[in-house]
Amino acid sequence: MNKILLEGGTVVSSAGRTTCDVLVVDDRIEAVGDFSNVPLGEVERVDCRGRYVLPGGVDVHTHIDSPMMGTNTADDFESGTKAAAVGGTTTIVDFAMQPAGHRLLDSLEAHHRKAQGKAVIDYGFHMCITDLYEGATKEFADVATAGVTSFKVFMAYRGSLMLHDGEMYDVLRAANRVGSQVCVHAENGDVIDRIADDLIAAGKTGPATHEIARPPSTEVEAVQRAIMISKLAGTPIYFVHLSTEGAVAALSAAQADGLPVAGESCTHYLALDRSVYDEPGFLPAKAVLTPPLRTKEHQDALWRGIAAGSLSVVSSDHCPFCLEEKQRLGGDDFRKIPNGGPGVEQRMSVMYGRGVAEGRITLEKFVDVTSTAPAKQFGLFPKKGSVTPGSDADIIVLDPNGETAISAATQTQAVDYSLYEGWKLPGRIDAVYSRGELIASNGKYVGREGRGNFIARASL
Ligand code: URP
Ligand code: ZN
Ligand code: ZN
Ligand code: ZN
Repeated sequence: MNKILLEGGTVVSSAGRTTCDVLVVDDRIEAVGDFSNVPLGEVERVDCRGRYVLPGGVDVHTHIDSPMMGTNTADDFESGTKAAAVGGTTTIVDFAMQPAGHRLLDSLEAHHRKAQGKAVIDYGFHMCITDLYEGATKEFADVATAGVTSFKVFMAYRGSLMLHDGEMYDVLRAANRVGSQVCVHAENGDVIDRIADDLIAAGKTGPATHEIARPPSTEVEAVQRAIMISKLAGTPIYFVHLSTEGAVAALSAAQADGLPVAGESCTHYLALDRSVYDEPGFLPAKAVLTPPLRTKEHQDALWRGIAAGSLSVVSSDHCPFCLEEKQRLGGDDFRKIPNGGPGVEQRMSVMYGRGVAEGRITLEKFVDVTSTAPAKQFGLFPKKGSVTPGSDADIIVLDPNGETAISAATQTQAVDYSLYEGWKLPGRIDAVYSRGELIASNGKYVGREGRGNFIARASL
């Protein structure tokens, strides 16, 4: 039996905080309380006074070792999950892509082969549906039985990832029958493609054009349409990567009407604005991700949505490509730049530094949107997302008086840039435990190789 006592820290949940000890026995949290006068036998004591003891981060939107736009994301499950770990994230739910022409269970199996023995933190999968072949919906039950109880559909990227509205309706109905939920990428792909083609014809080929091709209304329209289609299908939906004020308004109006719709935003929409697209040369390609970064007004609306609870989750949408590769593939046509940005490593630090330390959200809200709410949304709670007896001992120790410096030169993610280059943020994640094992310490991975487990999730 292995015992660790995290002593005297401020233990924080989504509902409140208390100064106490946390007793970890093997891979579980055994008890939370005052152990100062309790004989515990042999125990490793960790002084957490003056520091926060929080549930490990749960990032439900990552694309590790995934085919995308003719290439593959830069992190494999080793570098991607080590990056997550050093950044305080102890669970991911990653998108298993369905390459066109491939069956769902085969695609899932292929993703398992990439993760198994390489991932260092626990992981689940969502299944992307990009090709609704004859009989595909009949296989949804098998996907759910395999522990994958959420799908993703794309309303953009016609010709590669996009489903049309009728297919989305079919997916929603079939998912509902097997107790799975559906994540929706809400952008009007056909309108975007036409705007983009017109811009190229007008000679606007550079990376900053990506923003102009995807105006806010292309997201808002798709969110409104998806809400109505989900109402028609009678199926709950979860919007990924929301970026606009109008989307938050549509989401909260639907929630006020009692519709079962939820949504996330991502670190980069909350912490960065569109000014990246004003940077010189090819640098705007750092933020060629979808939807694009928006203005300050949208950013403020997203923070209000987080505070009000209409947006319940903050994910990274970690979808890393080297800048060098973005330039090689899309240097003369922004439409060919692989879409996505890195960030699984920085999500917790940026949300703490920009959110909590700068007074935009409470510490409890931080715990909720980065850990507890995503765990609840995707069937991982209370195994994950909670520092309570019986939960997995996935715990981070954060020093509010420390500092986090971000730089591509020192990051674990396998890419050549950071969206947050040179940032120095208040707060520092000193220690990260996964199932009772210390896996990261002072920004370095110190755990065993390949120790992550696949988490089969139950149906709703
Ligand atoms: O830019 C992004 N988000 N790329 C990844 C694919 C997606 O839509 O999530
Ligand atoms: Zn998406
Ligand atoms: Zn994504
Ligand atoms: Zn590279």
